[in-house]
Amino acid sequence: MDFEDIDTIAVLGAGNMGHGITEVAALAGYDVRMRDIKDEFVQDGYDNIEWSLNKLAEKDQLSQDEADAALDRVTPLVDVEEAVSDVDVVIEAVPEKMDIKKDVYTEVEEYAPEDAIFATNTSSLSITELSEVTERPEQFCGMHFFNPPVRMQLVEVISGAHSSDDTLAAIEALAEDFEKTPVRVRKDSPGFIVNRILVPLMNEAAWLVHTDEATVAEVDSTTKFDMGLPMGSFELSDQVGNDVGLHVLEYMHEVLGEPYAPCPLLEEKVENEELGKKSGKGFYDYE
Ligand code: CAA
Repeated sequence: MDFEDIDTIAVLGAGNMGHGITEVAALAGYDVRMRDIKDEFVQDGYDNIEWSLNKLAEKDQLSQDEADAALDRVTPLVDVEEAVSDVDVVIEAVPEKMDIKKDVYTEVEEYAPEDAIFATNTSSLSITELSEVTERPEQFCGMHFFNPPVRMQLVEVISGAHSSDDTLAAIEALAEDFEKTPVRVRKDSPGFIVNRILVPLMNEAAWLVHTDEATVAEVDSTTKFDMGLPMGSFELSDQVGNDVGLHVLEYMHEVLGEPYAPCPLLEEKVENEELGKKSGKGFYDYE
């Protein structure tokens, strides 16, 4: 599949990343089928896209007509066959668990056209291992967006061991057409580049608080104001989702070892469903 032949895209998962990627693709003029496993998940994702587009229109970053047209290009779906049966690219953004993603690819392989490219938005998992559950490992690569996709410029395009140059070139061109800046990641290692740096930073911040060496406010004021990050470390953790950060750490710990042991404070947050902005409470309250 060449970039020029890409018209229709399926995004699997309507959560934070799935709905955000759908919005970006629809804004770039693509027809997008956004699929999740339950009507309520798809509806929430659709409502979030509508909210975000209206917000951008309110701030004159696009016209209300452009916002409405982008929303019209989104088809929310639950049926997987309908979602992928005649698309050119499938971008997968389901939960960050190897088993869940493998099950999704096994199902999607059955219905997607043979020449469709599969691009995973995984934050950390092995692209090579995921690609090997499909019959098209050469048409498979990573396409990793950042949260919130509509605001963040970078996209990591990650090569698995089998990804073809044509596939990587098509996905890089697609990212550019989304008005993003793709950066090629040539080594398929846990967390790729950004999360290999950022997630341990959020974990280390949690250890500081867990061991009572600093408070959340002290850490955030330092990371935000002194280190110049756009958000404090805990604000960022809440933005990304504490569950997402924890899943990335668990995988990095499993593959890379001890320095990546997740802080119990993060585990506690996830057990208590304090996932961050998306659940209304994380390290901060959002209600
Ligand atoms: N769509 C539309 N508007 C949005 C929005 C969205 N998705 N998200 C936030 N906004 C709006 C807010 O509602 C707010 O609007 P009001 O002013 O009306 O209240 C406004 O944008 C926020 O704008 P601010 O001026 O307060 O903030 P900003 O514009 O300076 O920046 C930001 C916002 C771009 C999110 C910035 O804080 C930032 O860059 N944060 C860091 C984010 C980051 O690093 N993300 C990557 C995380 S790592 C990751 O995602 C990888 C992974 O795999 C785990």
